[in-house]
Amino acid sequence: NLPMILLTLETTCDETAAAIVNDSLKVLSGVVASQAKLHEIYKGVVPEIAARAHVERILPVIDETLKAADLTLDDIDAIAVANTPGLSGSLLVGLTAAKALCFAKDIPLIAVNHLHAHVYACQFASETPIYPCVGLVVSGGHTHLYHYESAIESRFLGGTIDDAAGEAFDKVASMLGLPYPGGPSISKVAVDGDKDAIKFPRSFLKEDRIAFSFSGLKTAVRYAITGPGKFDLDNVSLTPERVADLAASFQQAVVDCLVAKSVQAVEQCAAKDAPRRLCVGGGVAANRVFREQLKQQCELKNIELHFAALEHCTDNAVMGAIAVERFKAGLFEDMSLDILPGLIR
Ligand code: KG4
Ligand code: ZN
Repeated sequence: NLPMILLTLETTCDETAAAIVNDSLKVLSGVVASQAKLHEIYKGVVPEIAARAHVERILPVIDETLKAADLTLDDIDAIAVANTPGLSGSLLVGLTAAKALCFAKDIPLIAVNHLHAHVYACQFASETPIYPCVGLVVSGGHTHLYHYESAIESRFLGGTIDDAAGEAFDKVASMLGLPYPGGPSISKVAVDGDKDAIKFPRSFLKEDRIAFSFSGLKTAVRYAITGPGKFDLDNVSLTPERVADLAASFQQAVVDCLVAKSVQAVEQCAAKDAPRRLCVGGGVAANRVFREQLKQQCELKNIELHFAALEHCTDNAVMGAIAVERFKAGLFEDMSLDILPGLIR
């Protein structure tokens, strides 16, 4: 029954997050406990460390979220949890916490697909409904395009055949000796670089196919660092100018692919009568150059563009409010709900 207050939990990767929203999408509170510091020295997320950190943090994060909204668990009408996709150990912590609280309080449990939640984050930045639309999820784990009939009805259009864009940012940053997470550190040094300094490959750019590939680009950056025929990064020393040029040229290659394929996906869907609307979420959607260039292209192509707010691009629990749509549609789960670490389209 409406009105209702929803507690959402997010533990798919390395952020332990909770939020409280109502069915009018008013955010009553949101807390994100980042584990970036724990994974920094490994230059990437270590699954076992992530899972242990979630166990330590989940209850304090929930407590803090309730406190910030001036509520107790008795005020919560339903609990939503991201159960797919993600790291098994991480997902299990959120799901177990959600099930335990739902069981104890006898309130409904709602499942959230983390990828569709990333797109739903755009709804918080928009006065008007964002569905139907084409959605791009561009994060550390995924680079996928969907057509959405509504928040809960989607069709997979295409995605990366190897690395995600964010993963490429993280790996290239590591090769360049820049700190983790790589996206923000690459975009920072790229400001002083020449985006045309090195000509990196742009996969599928000239094809109709909706697909991405970033692993070849990653290898191309490696050889641009080491020199042709050499693989070892240990004995290379790069000037700050060269690092900036490599970062800027790499970033531009990624951005070109993301912009071109997103616009192409909207055009293909529009040909079948879908509205010319594009919604973009996920960590890489925080990239300034990407935001600017996609905005330019969408203006040119008459596409209505929505981005998630910067604080809702990287993982958070506010975007789990997509569960409000499932609540309204009567889509609830029972205690047999399991994690689905692998991608479901
Ligand atoms: O959505 P997210 O927090 O986690 C996943 O679901 O994967 O995305 C994290 C990814 C990381 O790979 C990070 O390097 C990237 O988003 N990222 C960025 C920027 N900020 C975060 N990539 C490019 N530019 C940024 N400004
Ligand atoms: Zn994410």
